[in-house]
Amino acid sequence: MSHERDPKRDGLAVARRRFLSAVAAGGAATGLAGLVRPAEAANPDNLPPNEPEWARMLGPGVDDRGYGLPSIYEKHVKRRWVPWLTASAESTVNFTPLQDLHGFVTPNGICFERHHAGRAEVNPEDHRLIIHGLVEKPLMFTVQDLKRMPSESHFYFCECAANSGMEWRNAQLNGVQFTHGMVHCVHWTGVPLRVLFEQTGLKPNAKWVLAEGADGAAMTRSIPMEKMLDDCLVAYAQNGEALRPEQGYPIRLVVPGFEANMWVKWLRRLEVGDQPWYHREETSKYTDLLPSGKAYIFTWVMEAKSVITFPCPEKPLDGPGYYSVRGLAWSGRGRITRVDVSFDGGRNWQTAKLQDPVYPKCLTRFEIPWRWNGERALLVSRAIDETGYVQPTMYELQKVRGVESVYHNNAQQVWEVKPSGEVENVRLRYVNA
Ligand code: MTE
Ligand code: CO
Repeated sequence: MSHERDPKRDGLAVARRRFLSAVAAGGAATGLAGLVRPAEAANPDNLPPNEPEWARMLGPGVDDRGYGLPSIYEKHVKRRWVPWLTASAESTVNFTPLQDLHGFVTPNGICFERHHAGRAEVNPEDHRLIIHGLVEKPLMFTVQDLKRMPSESHFYFCECAANSGMEWRNAQLNGVQFTHGMVHCVHWTGVPLRVLFEQTGLKPNAKWVLAEGADGAAMTRSIPMEKMLDDCLVAYAQNGEALRPEQGYPIRLVVPGFEANMWVKWLRRLEVGDQPWYHREETSKYTDLLPSGKAYIFTWVMEAKSVITFPCPEKPLDGPGYYSVRGLAWSGRGRITRVDVSFDGGRNWQTAKLQDPVYPKCLTRFEIPWRWNGERALLVSRAIDETGYVQPTMYELQKVRGVESVYHNNAQQVWEVKPSGEVENVRLRYVNA
């Protein structure tokens, strides 16, 4: 996503921070009560060893729900957005509730959404995929055509380049949903691009592909042909069912390990060319501004990153004792090989346990036991991927990238656990740095 506003520029940053603290604390004034825990009060009559009310009657029959919904006691598990971040609800983002997720798969209904012109509601009967340009034979496919072809299914994370983008200058948003929730991880099914280009054939100078969406934004990005032929998919399913409209129904591009902006939704056109197009989303947006005033362009790969999702601002601790500290790690370059966790702000590290399976370019769950003695603690995690790359501290990242950038913030996240058990997003100051 693109941020037109600099949160540091105006004095609103503090108010915003307070607002988000209130949100994280489940403050009723924000209309988001129950963010921390379900608001339902327990009924002592139902408590064992009593016979609860639901054990004394028939429940609804199987004709009750053709498509199931989560329990009414899980209503707090939902996407949330930050209205002041952008000018409208059509061109903005909402966030995956990472604090409420288990394992590494994101359920379809709570995958974060990022639209530049709102969610397109596409009738698959009226939709086609056109492939043209430097091909031997331009072709147009219906969605049905695509489903008849050989398919592949893979788990991949999809992370917006602007995930954690508000955190460059300082600790801003007090909740893991808001600092890291522009990522989801889904089991994608679709046709490999390789299969489609076998049918169209490619001219010798076919080096780049322009992917275009059918929404009002007509999202367009240039993608190297090499990547397309390697592991990209035209996906029509997520987690075993048709794509959700939010995720690009009926078809979207899946570009494993690359920034989510390139994963064009409601995909309608692939033009093959011999050079990139330098469209808006790869020049004025999604480039990384450096302190020199120059900018990196085509920084597609999402580097290794991790975050502790329990405890976190939304999930405080209940008091001293034993806990299983948990989190997620991922790398656009392949598999996560190790995650270290520190309880003292990065002075000492312990290696966490990675939960099977560990797939490449996919979220990986880590866990580590911790006995909290009730004192202030600074929790940090750092991911290491199969290339040997180590997730940097914010200090290390800023030394190279400055603070002007919005995109590709993969710095280590620090959570302060207070003696009360509350957890806050904080920034470490480096003495002697
Ligand atoms: N594709 C189209 N057609 N229109 C869009 O606005 N947004 C991009 C990308 N693909 C976008 C799009 C951006 S910036 C992101 S982060 C991802 O879609 C978000 O994918 P999601 O909504 O499935 O989370
Ligand atoms: Co994005």
